[in-house]
Amino acid sequence: MSDPDPTPTEPTPVPDPEAYELTINGRTRSVPSAWLGESLLYVLRERLGLPGAKNACEQGECGSCSLFLDGVLVNSCCVLAADATDARIDTVEGLADGDQLTDVQQAFLDAGAVQCGFCIPGLITTVHDLLDRTPTPDQLEVREAISGNLCRCTGYGRILQAVEDVRARREAAG
Ligand code: FES
Ligand code: FES
Repeated sequence: MSDPDPTPTEPTPVPDPEAYELTINGRTRSVPSAWLGESLLYVLRERLGLPGAKNACEQGECGSCSLFLDGVLVNSCCVLAADATDARIDTVEGLADGDQLTDVQQAFLDAGAVQCGFCIPGLITTVHDLLDRTPTPDQLEVREAISGNLCRCTGYGRILQAVEDVRARREAAG
């Protein structure tokens, strides 16, 4: 006579040789079953549900996918996600403190610098980078800093105004 049914056991996890982890906005995120050739932009948007970095050219030409890798501004479409496992990744989603926008984000809104909005996450990230590195940029430095961020809507006038507003407010605040 055979034994009664054995007690069900948990299935043994199958090792996932392609899995890796990324540190994003201070949190560790697992990336299971990924193709190791995927860009950081693709992994953030399509695998981890972080759509802040935008996908436009995928060739490092438009700046819409800008984020920080170990504090350095990069185009995430040109970075392999699997190469960033030891890096600190900071995306536009991590800039605001909950509902409290950064001064740069607020200035873009106040200046009416947002139209379709597609380029804005990249621009906001780039402007934060500029003002952290160069707190009192002149107009040429501002234009140079955002020259890699393409906007098809605004004509840049209100974007430049927003940057100037933040610069002036920070300067006044000491
Ligand atoms: S999508 Fe990365 S630079 Fe355009
Ligand atoms: S606001 Fe539309 S592309 Fe910049």
